Amino acid sequence: MRIPLAKPDITEKERKAVLNVLKTSSLSLGKKYLEFQDVVAKYVGVKYAVAVNSGTSGLHLIIRALGIGEGDEVITTPFSFISSSNCILYEGAKPVFVDIKSDTFNINPEFVEGSITPRTKAILAVDIFSQPADWDELKRIAKKHKLHLIEDSAEALGSEYKGKKCGSFGDAGIFAFYPNKQLTTGEGGVILTNNKEIYELCQSMANQGRKVEDGKWLEHVRLGYNYRLDEMSCALGIAQMSRLKEILAKRERAARLYNQKLKSIKRLETPYIKEGNKISWFVYVAKLAEKFAGAKRDKIIKEMAKKGIQCSNYFQPIHLQPFYRKKFGYKKGDCPIAENVSSRTLALPFFSNMREKEIDYVANNLKKIFDEFI
Ligand SMILES: Cc1ncc(COP(=O)(O)O)c(C=O)c1O
Repeated sequence: MRIPLAKPDITEKERKAVLNVLKTSSLSLGKKYLEFQDVVAKYVGVKYAVAVNSGTSGLHLIIRALGIGEGDEVITTPFSFISSSNCILYEGAKPVFVDIKSDTFNINPEFVEGSITPRTKAILAVDIFSQPADWDELKRIAKKHKLHLIEDSAEALGSEYKGKKCGSFGDAGIFAFYPNKQLTTGEGGVILTNNKEIYELCQSMANQGRKVEDGKWLEHVRLGYNYRLDEMSCALGIAQMSRLKEILAKRERAARLYNQKLKSIKRLETPYIKEGNKISWFVYVAKLAEKFAGAKRDKIIKEMAKKGIQCSNYFQPIHLQPFYRKKFGYKKGDCPIAENVSSRTLALPFFSNMREKEIDYVANNLKKIFDEFI
């Protein structure tokens, strides 16, 4: 058996939706673009959405729209995908890493206030592995110190914090739609906000700095980019949104099955869900017992690969990435909890159409590898 780490859930509905766009001559900035934005904004319960060509582009535009730049600092988490920090660098600002909680893997608000300086402009938190961050506490701190709050919800479409959808916290947030996500548009992302000014700036900057309302195609009122999402991707996104409930239910089922099959393995912890949080299952990441950290975890990944099972070591701490070490002088020990967690995580194959026998195959091989090799 060969089991990939992730696989998109595409049906005839999605294929038809994309083909229908191709039968028209409207392949960019058409009806699908408007409809997709509308559908996502309504689902999350925010006023505005801007569809963009990646989650990274969305984060970049939010940083720019908030006027964050040279000399500014943004407090963020080291336990994430590189984009949540790179977007700060794009504008010449400095990411200041604050350690995480060992259970949720999210930024620990208790450490945030101690890292605020006169240069701090924003807190950028991530709903990692679709687990909502501590939004009430982060909001309280942001308000008290007059900081912007940014939500990187790339991995959390459908997750809820205290009954409210992720993507709706902070001044602005994003989702990402790469094919490993709960919902995919191929490449793609969306910016979400209730703030009209941020919305208009992002919409304009995503479209080469055009003044969107008056439609003068060759008038550029600010520096912009081509971060637009095309009509085929938007049509794919609309079809995926119409199936989101079904997709998330399938992911929930797969996660429950994993929980059942792995609970007898004392050498790992199955994913933790904090009270008040509902998670939409981006990935299934187990945390190995301390004695299997680092090289042993990596050996497990290699042995699983020999059985045709693709696993991963999500995530390596951002502050220890070679480029970050070199540029900012970050070193081992700067964020000990993130470093410990990242040496123990094991992401197992996970996608909405996983069959029970595939989950059995993964669980049984994992048990065998623990017994025979580790
Ligand atoms: C936490 C996080 N932020 C940002 C991104 C960037 O999204 P994209 O790959 O669409 O640029 C990702 C994508 O995997 C992510 O996981």
